[in-house]
Amino acid sequence: MEYNFPITRNESPKEKPAAGTSLGFGKYFTDHMFMMDYDEGQGWHDGRIIPYQNLSIDPAATSLHYGQMMFEGLKAYRNPQGKINLFRPDMNAKRLNRTNARMCIPPMDEDLFVAAVKAIVEIDQDWIPTEQGCSLYIRPFIISPEVSFSVLPAKKYWFIIVLSAVGAYYEGNESKLHGSHIWVEEEYIRAAVGGTGFAKCGGNYGCGMIAAAEAKKKGCEEVLWLDAKEHKYVEEVGTSNAFFKINGTIITSSLTGSILPGVTRDSCLQLLKKWGYNVEERRLGIAEVIEAAKNGTLEEAWATGTACVISPIGVLYYDGKQFPINDEVVGDVSQKLYDTLYGMQIGTVEPEMEGWVVTLD
Ligand code: COI
Repeated sequence: MEYNFPITRNESPKEKPAAGTSLGFGKYFTDHMFMMDYDEGQGWHDGRIIPYQNLSIDPAATSLHYGQMMFEGLKAYRNPQGKINLFRPDMNAKRLNRTNARMCIPPMDEDLFVAAVKAIVEIDQDWIPTEQGCSLYIRPFIISPEVSFSVLPAKKYWFIIVLSAVGAYYEGNESKLHGSHIWVEEEYIRAAVGGTGFAKCGGNYGCGMIAAAEAKKKGCEEVLWLDAKEHKYVEEVGTSNAFFKINGTIITSSLTGSILPGVTRDSCLQLLKKWGYNVEERRLGIAEVIEAAKNGTLEEAWATGTACVISPIGVLYYDGKQFPINDEVVGDVSQKLYDTLYGMQIGTVEPEMEGWVVTLD
């Protein structure tokens, strides 16, 4: 189906960040946004592109109080032919609908989602940064402007997409990856099975801030989350999925329900299998990781996410001790995954998998 979204141009476009500016993550927003309404009985309607602007929302709007919302994250890149690349946007569309189902938000046609992403990126394509490690981060989200104090699913929603020119999620990783220092979190938990851990909703992130803040005070960039029930099994690293290479085998947690099914996680699994690595998706005890660190078989560890791409782990802080991984040197597999994924995304490496790179006409 063809979608045509009316465009209201921004008459006062902003100055774009000068080449060489440290972009950070979510500091520089573009000139336009995509907006679409949902009303019960009418479905999603009136998709449109409008100037980037503040929202006018009633202070009693239900999303502001009870957190019925969702978001997604993907990126756009400029390829060497001057065209725009997206990476597996269909995966974001599918995940959006899984999140929506959990959050009692109505589903959206996957093609409509992808068409909206393409339309807004096309309008603001001059904002796509071309410096190494930089990209245009695409943030689709859904909230409800409905006024109500009842704890019930709303009947009215807004779907909005905003865009931000970004650098690496972990500062400094633009030009050269570094190994992060990671606090193994034993007190707080991110998500429990039966909750919303597999969904992309704000509550999963808000509840993790305290642990990240405390980890920072202890000199770490992020936390490694353990499972909610027994605090025994590794789950995620901060806002990303986690991989460990132990004695030649690469292990990531299975999707237990409390883990976000990351697009980068899935892409890494497929690439690693294709490259012939022994890969396991299973529950991985922190005791097994620490034992491997002690006996020298923990060869590499890294986080994967749309925002961070591949972020190697240099040191684990656990039980009052520090456990360096690979002498804090970025491992070969982490580097190869980064070079391949980011290379495919920016179009300097031939796509290894059909359909992953979507180039706009
Ligand atoms: C992403 O990797 O796209 C995320 O959603 C992480 C984000 C919370 C920074």
